[in-house]
Amino acid sequence: MDRFQGEKDFQSRRKIRLTREEKSSDLPESSGGLVTVFDPANPVSEAYRTLRTSLLYSLVDTPPKVIVLTSAGPGEGKSITCANLGVVLAQADMNTLILDCDFRKPTLHTVFELRNLRGVTNALVQERSPQEIWQEPVPGLKVITPGPIPPNPAELLGSRRFAEFVTQLRQQFDYLLIDSPPLELVTDPVILATRGDGVLLVLDAQNTRKGSVRRAVRDLESVGANVLGTVMNNVKTSRIRAYYEYGY
Ligand SMILES: Nc1ncnc2c1ncn2[C@@H]1O[C@H](COP(=O)(O)OP(=O)(O)OP(=O)(O)O)[C@@H](O)[C@H]1O
Ligand SMILES: [Mg+2]
Repeated sequence: MDRFQGEKDFQSRRKIRLTREEKSSDLPESSGGLVTVFDPANPVSEAYRTLRTSLLYSLVDTPPKVIVLTSAGPGEGKSITCANLGVVLAQADMNTLILDCDFRKPTLHTVFELRNLRGVTNALVQERSPQEIWQEPVPGLKVITPGPIPPNPAELLGSRRFAEFVTQLRQQFDYLLIDSPPLELVTDPVILATRGDGVLLVLDAQNTRKGSVRRAVRDLESVGANVLGTVMNNVKTSRIRAYYEYGY
């Protein structure tokens, strides 16, 4: 089977549907979208575990280890997907690190209630070791926040130093998840995609337009990125229940 056909099969079989409506109805107020921590029995948490399984069994010969999460436009659920996927990987005893490389609008420190005083920028500019800058909000899950926002994020992410930093982390962790800004706004995710083994494209089921998805995939594939599949966020609660109870 060629790579493209394999990807298409993966995408059609593994389209994961998550829902934002669950937040207001079923989730505890304090969850802040971190459903996998606060309500592991919720169907949304189950959807994140299904996403984990899809990843673990994708590309069996060369399983992706460094995964970039991005989306076409803003606010489609990249960061919340990244956070919950990190949690469920850690819950499965995978030594996992989340790297927040969204210098435009970093949010993961808020999601995990961390401080963002030091982070990726310090590792790259001041050569701080990963151990000095990571935090561990959930057992088995380390998070490196962006740190001070640099004037030139794209240049920093495209630097040799960043490539070396990722190589170093790759050796220390089972999984490295990289959160990024939207493709339509900046080039950072395209640069990041070239550093990873695969990209997960997050879609907002209610708002993302087909044309935006096509453009996003084209932009990613034009730099040789491996689009692993899509994560469909913000699907109606009734749909997600039907998906798990009846398989559609
Ligand atoms: N599945 C979900 N469950 C709960 N909350 C969600 C979900 N998806 C999105 N949200 C909420 O919607 C908002 C936007 O989500 P998020 O920050 O993950 O999007 P993003 O794509 O990372 O945005 P940006 O482009 O600004 O980085 C957040 O307040 C988040 O908590
Ligand atoms: Mg984000």
